[in-house]
Amino acid sequence: MHIKDRTFIITGGSSGLGLATARELHSHGGYIAILDMNTDAGEEVVKELGSDRSRFFEVDVTDTDSIANALKGTSAWVKKTGRQIGGVVSAAGVGNPGKIIDRHNEPLSLSSIDFVLNINLRGTLDFVRQALPYMTQVQPDGADGERGVVILVSSSAAYDGQPGQVSYAASKGAVRSMTLPLARDLAPYGIRVVTIAPSLFESRMTAMMSDKVRKSLERVMEFPKRAGRGEEFAQLARQSVENIMLNGVTIRLDGAMRMPSRL
Ligand SMILES: NC(=O)c1ccc[n+]([C@@H]2O[C@H](COP(=O)([O-])OP(=O)(O)OC[C@H]3O[C@@H](n4cnc5c(N)ncnc54)[C@H](O)[C@@H]3O)[C@@H](O)[C@H]2O)c1
Repeated sequence: MHIKDRTFIITGGSSGLGLATARELHSHGGYIAILDMNTDAGEEVVKELGSDRSRFFEVDVTDTDSIANALKGTSAWVKKTGRQIGGVVSAAGVGNPGKIIDRHNEPLSLSSIDFVLNINLRGTLDFVRQALPYMTQVQPDGADGERGVVILVSSSAAYDGQPGQVSYAASKGAVRSMTLPLARDLAPYGIRVVTIAPSLFESRMTAMMSDKVRKSLERVMEFPKRAGRGEEFAQLARQSVENIMLNGVTIRLDGAMRMPSRL
């Protein structure tokens, strides 16, 4: 799928990896709709990119009506600009660590588990589910009749989750697992699905890590021995849009790093 003059809808686009992807696709001529609950940051992004080719819609991905409204708004914008949807990126996500049982013999609270699963898993599925009826209406492109791409964000935790990452790993493992069946369901429409599983990347989420955790992760890095950068994630997101042979796959983006058991 070409990027120029296509619209891309990005949840979590106000910050971190979603924002880096918004900038990258915008710099290649894309139109960007940012769906995020962080309104101040989202409006700043529109100021940065310019309102001619970007829009912000306030969305909480756990609120199905807010997704519906944002997609309606995006669709109206698409009708005005004439720039058809080229893809969606589901990058909204949260960490919220917690061991399954703590030293006081208290199991992890259900509300903490729900919080992570509702945003990372249910929110991803609901966003994709609701975006698809718009994507299937796109005029097929090129000899292959491609209509667009769905990009999901998993994590190293889907493969080697650390202590305290049970809920997060469960949500990201599910995102990884849904990739192939989604691609199979969407193949008849010419819509591809690509999931990116990053290790440690610089973002607001990881800026909140303690020095101890960060140092322990840096110790087990292979090459390069540093956190990934937003632009490096965005580069793969762009490739995922452009390379039609990428489909039904989860790509680890981790410099060969494997998350350690102990910090
Ligand atoms: N940074 C990393 O090291 C790393 C590693 C692996 C996976 N990931 C995943 O990448 C994705 C992006 O994370 P990031 O590191 O850029 O974090 P980030 O905190 O910088 O960005 C996440 C964005 O999601 C938005 N968001 C959170 N909850 C939301 C909700 N309910 N509704 C709408 N928007 C919501 C936030 O407002 C924020 O703008 C997440 O899914 C995260 O799990 C990040």
